[in-house]
Amino acid sequence: MNFQTILLEQPEAGIYLLTLNRPQALNALNSAMLDELAQAAALIATEPAARVLLVTGAGDKAFVAGADIGEMRDYSTEEARAFSAKGMRVMHALEALPVPVIALVNGYALGGGCELAMSCDWILAAENAVFGQPEVNLGIPPGFGGTQRLTRLVGRAMALELLTTARQVKAEEALRIGLVNHVHAAAVLMERGLDMARTIAGKGPVAVRLAKQAAQRGQDLDIANACVLETAAFALAFATADQEEGMRAFCEKRPAKFQGK
Ligand code: CAA
Repeated sequence: MNFQTILLEQPEAGIYLLTLNRPQALNALNSAMLDELAQAAALIATEPAARVLLVTGAGDKAFVAGADIGEMRDYSTEEARAFSAKGMRVMHALEALPVPVIALVNGYALGGGCELAMSCDWILAAENAVFGQPEVNLGIPPGFGGTQRLTRLVGRAMALELLTTARQVKAEEALRIGLVNHVHAAAVLMERGLDMARTIAGKGPVAVRLAKQAAQRGQDLDIANACVLETAAFALAFATADQEEGMRAFCEKRPAKFQGK
């Protein structure tokens, strides 16, 4: 597909790489980019051979420096509502993808950029990564889910501090407060992301999808119902050739050859 504001590549079988590609504006999210992100998410969601998606920013300065302030500045209330709703749909579409989605944050992840990173399943940060929700500097609150996802990730007190002071958080602190999973030197961030993607791509594909779905859908349920969801996922896996192969391979002391069915 021919995109103008993003790049969607498949560097290896099953591994997709989505690059936010407006480096001249530090990859700021405008409406056109949100539309293309929605198209890319729909494409991956319907691709049975997809195993994992990596998301990163073009250039060495920013993942995404936020929603596009130039585009937003003259919005009416209704236009702002529509822009927020569109952003929310895109964040949800990425979050709900059937495969793991990993953000590789290579610089600024501010405002909508932090929200985009938090919509991924987890974040690998470069040492120069900077996170924050600076919207209050502009006289607005976050609009792409930041008040909700940041609170769920780092807890209410830390989230409220960051949301109301606009304080920026560097990679090491982001690691300490649980916003990111790992920090790597900027030069090796992509390679570490690909390593992790290869590891995931080598596992049972149906099992990976079931595990993601159960973990993600279950977190909004009470524990009893969430565990029923897990039992259903566990049982479903026993209808797959991959379960048979995975367990046979273990018993025969050899690596499994999964087919994704
Ligand atoms: N929107 C539009 N353009 C942006 C942008 C944004 N969010 N962030 C950076 N840019 C543009 C700049 O205007 C500049 O363009 P020109 O060269 O044409 O002037 C270019 O990117 C480079 O930026 P700077 O010159 O500012 O680079 P810097 O290194 O001096 O500063 C920065 C980097 C600290 C990230 C700074 O650019 C900045 O503070 N950006 C805005 C961050 C922000 O407030 N984000 C939140 C946006 S609101 C939001 O996201 C709402 C929501 O939740 C939906």
